[in-house]
Amino acid sequence: MESGGKKIKIPDHVAIIMDGNGRWAQLRGLPRLAGHREGVKRAREAVEFSYRNGIKYLTLFAFSTENWQRPREEVEGIIQLLREYLRKELPDLKENRVKLKVIGDLTPLPEEVRREIETAEEELKEGDRLTLIVAFSYGGRQEIIRAVKKIVSECKNGTVQNISEEYFRKFLFAPEIPDPDLLIRTGGEQRISNFLLFQIAYTELYFTKTLWPDFTSEEFKRAIEDYSRRERRFGRVGKGK
Ligand code: FPP
Repeated sequence: MESGGKKIKIPDHVAIIMDGNGRWAQLRGLPRLAGHREGVKRAREAVEFSYRNGIKYLTLFAFSTENWQRPREEVEGIIQLLREYLRKELPDLKENRVKLKVIGDLTPLPEEVRREIETAEEELKEGDRLTLIVAFSYGGRQEIIRAVKKIVSECKNGTVQNISEEYFRKFLFAPEIPDPDLLIRTGGEQRISNFLLFQIAYTELYFTKTLWPDFTSEEFKRAIEDYSRRERRFGRVGKGK
């Protein structure tokens, strides 16, 4: 990707908090679900933008553990949208060598939906161009607690020697995925909302007021350009100091 004739630095892993669907719909006098529906179109656009521009991992926050408390109609609507997305996009994702990984606590989902997710993951397992990670019924604290519980049960077996950062990672939902380089949040709020708490220790943050249904490829490109200008130090002394 180029910007003003200059090559720009592409992050390997981009994570997105897709906020603002409800407000987008409200502004148009539409039900909230219409905003989510438009949001799916932008999710599709973000996936295509990612594999076309050499992003290797894209994580989308589709539904948080807290979102279960929304009205039943909205919850069911979002689950339905995810199912439709998986069903309709599967051939296209496969053709473009996209791998799928869904992270989160899927136990509250109907058996049928869980099976559909598994089938889609299986169907796309050979993808080597982009890995799409969909966070669904996901919470960062819950992920950490789940890891701790697993480690405790390993300890009971007496095999654990040293709980290092590397060892801890093995118990996250997707241990093989590197940490995000860039986290984008649309919709104007400047917070993390329990997303990838362990993984974003050194991630660059980008906040925009743009509501998710308006976050086109143009806007995505702007976020990448902004990232490209940043100097990442990972706690070390910067260049030229
Ligand atoms: C936040 O907007 C958005 C959500 C809680 C749901 C996002 C879900 C999708 C786009 C559909 C499923 C995803 C995929 C990958 C197929 P909000 O409702 O909190 O907006 P508001 O802050 O304006 O109320």
